[in-house]
Amino acid sequence: NILIQKKMKKNLAFGLIFLYTLIFSQYYSEKYRPQFHFSPEKMWMNDPNGLVYFNGKYHLFYQYYPDANVWGPMHWGHAVSTDLIHWKHLPIALYPDALGWIFSGSAVIDKNNTAGFGKNAMVAIFTYHNDEIWKAGNKNTESQGIAYSLDEGNTWTKYEGNPVLNNQGEQDFRDPKVFWNDKINQWTMVLAVQDHLQIYSSPNLKNWKLESRFKPENDLDVGVWECPDLIKMKVGNSKEEKWVLIQNHGRKAPNGGSGTRYWVGDFDGKTFKNTQPSVWMDYGTDFYAGVTFSNVPNDKILFIAWMSNWLYATKVPTEAWRSAMTLPRELFLKKIGSQYILTQKIIDTFSKITSPVLKVGELKLPFEKKLNLAQKEITFNIEGSQNDFKIEFANAKKEFFEIALKGNQLITDRKKSGKTDFEETFAEKPQTMDLRNQKIRNVQLILDQASVEILLNDGEFSMTNIYFPSENFNLLKISSATKSGIKNLKINNIRSIWKK
Ligand code: FRU
Repeated sequence: NILIQKKMKKNLAFGLIFLYTLIFSQYYSEKYRPQFHFSPEKMWMNDPNGLVYFNGKYHLFYQYYPDANVWGPMHWGHAVSTDLIHWKHLPIALYPDALGWIFSGSAVIDKNNTAGFGKNAMVAIFTYHNDEIWKAGNKNTESQGIAYSLDEGNTWTKYEGNPVLNNQGEQDFRDPKVFWNDKINQWTMVLAVQDHLQIYSSPNLKNWKLESRFKPENDLDVGVWECPDLIKMKVGNSKEEKWVLIQNHGRKAPNGGSGTRYWVGDFDGKTFKNTQPSVWMDYGTDFYAGVTFSNVPNDKILFIAWMSNWLYATKVPTEAWRSAMTLPRELFLKKIGSQYILTQKIIDTFSKITSPVLKVGELKLPFEKKLNLAQKEITFNIEGSQNDFKIEFANAKKEFFEIALKGNQLITDRKKSGKTDFEETFAEKPQTMDLRNQKIRNVQLILDQASVEILLNDGEFSMTNIYFPSENFNLLKISSATKSGIKNLKINNIRSIWKK
């Protein structure tokens, strides 16, 4: 009897271990599931929201619809990380209420209790989108509300005086990004309003006063303005400071659909003036609604964007979840020639999940290597005065994704990259990036299961693309019509952040 009991116990233990392994080995294992980028466990996600650092944790809130894998009544999903690489999912932070759905916005730590919610309250400033007003055809659909948390973002209370910024009849009145402004000793809010930016100030996050508007003369027609961000940055290692206005746009980005550009200029505390024309921050079609974290130690500027495009985000061939974020990036401002340029560096802690698979000092071209290209980082240097090479990720199904550097352009092509027919513009044309007459010296490619982030010249140029091959790309080809080789090729493996 004892023997039978022992055997049963043993079987039970094995059963439990088996079940545990089965559950965890399937977690985040669906086809195309990003392995080291943030994606929600299930259902729809778009913009990053409320990015804020507090008590050792980075908080990522995000536009979330928990009831379907397409956009719908918006909530704020929530996750935290101590290293910006590994994320822990937390319960939904903000739910729609009688005033509307919870659209994009930001979060601050109210160190001096200006709002009276408590010292160090985490305060979220977001847009209410009232769908009934919208459906009735009225313009004043959107207003701004606030909510606070006294327990590190776990539970939230909406302010009873909401909305704190009413709509005076302006359509597309949204995405408040708030920061503490030393110049006026008040809070500043930048708000996207249809085709321009509005700047407000407030002593207490509750009463807001319009200070100025920003829209350059003869501006590009790039659709609705969304998700702005205004940040003070040091220029290189110098003492010079400039302000950078990051602005997202709904359509007509360089390669179609939604995209992100920025102006560099000056801000006197109330008014922003650009001192150079706008520059696109990333030329790929899958980099949108990006904003920076607030309250980061040492004034680091940390940024995350949504890795999709409104042209096709709701149609991409994933089912359990939709969309992922880019890897977090640290931003720097550099003077290159007479222009100020934002450079993007993948967050340092990324190296925690990479390990070398190949290192070659001098590599002869053409080069071909069979290896699974999902979850790889590829870096190399290029010498010579000409921009000229081609990289291909291919598989046995004759599918491929191509990156070509030709003269003054970087061109990506996903026409034959696998599933593309879910939306007609997805792979219609190759995507191009203007290289501002720079010679490309180094290349960094970061490939997940279904995306590549391309950074050139230490992040001076960025291009982000998603793709859906029917089986993993497993052949890497590098070639050049004029060059006989490249230098310091390194290929790293990238571990999953989700697998136990
Ligand atoms: C940008 C955006 C925001 C809006 C949110 C709605 O992608 O359109 O302007 O607040 O998404 O989900």
